[in-house]
Amino acid sequence: LAAACISAPMPESLGELCGQMAACTRCPLHAPATQVVPGEGPLDAGLMVVGEQPGDQEDLHGRPFVGPAGQLFDRTAAEAGLDRSAAYVTNAVKHFKFRRTGKRRLHQAPNRDEIDHCKWWLDLEVRLVKPKLILAMGATALQSLTGRREGLLKRRGRVEHSHHGPVFVTVHPSYLLRLPDEVRRAEEIDRFREDLRQAARLT
Ligand code: URA
Repeated sequence: LAAACISAPMPESLGELCGQMAACTRCPLHAPATQVVPGEGPLDAGLMVVGEQPGDQEDLHGRPFVGPAGQLFDRTAAEAGLDRSAAYVTNAVKHFKFRRTGKRRLHQAPNRDEIDHCKWWLDLEVRLVKPKLILAMGATALQSLTGRREGLLKRRGRVEHSHHGPVFVTVHPSYLLRLPDEVRRAEEIDRFREDLRQAARLT
C-alpha cells in the first residue's frame, strides 16, 4: 500500500479528500486512467448514491455518472422525484478500469482486490457525508458496502443494514442499457424507477 494513503490524516473536507485520492497508488488502476473520479454533491446530503467505477466519459471529465449510464440514471431519478443535485454521487472504485481494442477503451469490471483497496476512499466519503441512506447500484457497490455481492436481483428493492447504516439495493443503470430485449428493458427501467422512488422517500 502507498505510504501517502496510509499516513494521510482523516480529511476534513471533500477538497482535502479529493487531494488525497488524486495521489492514491493503492492498486494498479491509477496508472492507465486519465484521472481519479471522486464523488460529488453536498456534504450534508441525506442520500449517497454508489455506482461501480467511472466509465470512459467519467474518466475523461473527472466526474461520476456523466456518460450513458449517468444519463439514464439522471432521467429515471428525475421521473422518480429523486433530486440528483441534492445527493452525493460516487463510485465504489475511483479509477476507470479498461482494456484497449484499437482506439476504443472497453470497460472491465473491477476485481475483489481493487474493490477492497478502494473501499478506503468510499469509507471516508461515508464518514464525511454521514448520509441517512446509501443507494447501492449494482453488485460492485453492494460488495463494497455489505461485503457480499451475491443475489443482487433477489436483494434489490429493499433496505439492508450495514456497518455504514441502511443500504438500499438496486441494479446498475449499465445493466439496463445492456438488456437486449426492448420490452424487458422497459420493464426493468420501470422497476429501477420504483426503486429510486422508494430510496427518495426513505431519505
Ligand atoms: N458507471 C458507474 O458505475 N459509475 C459511473 O460514474 C459511470 C458509469
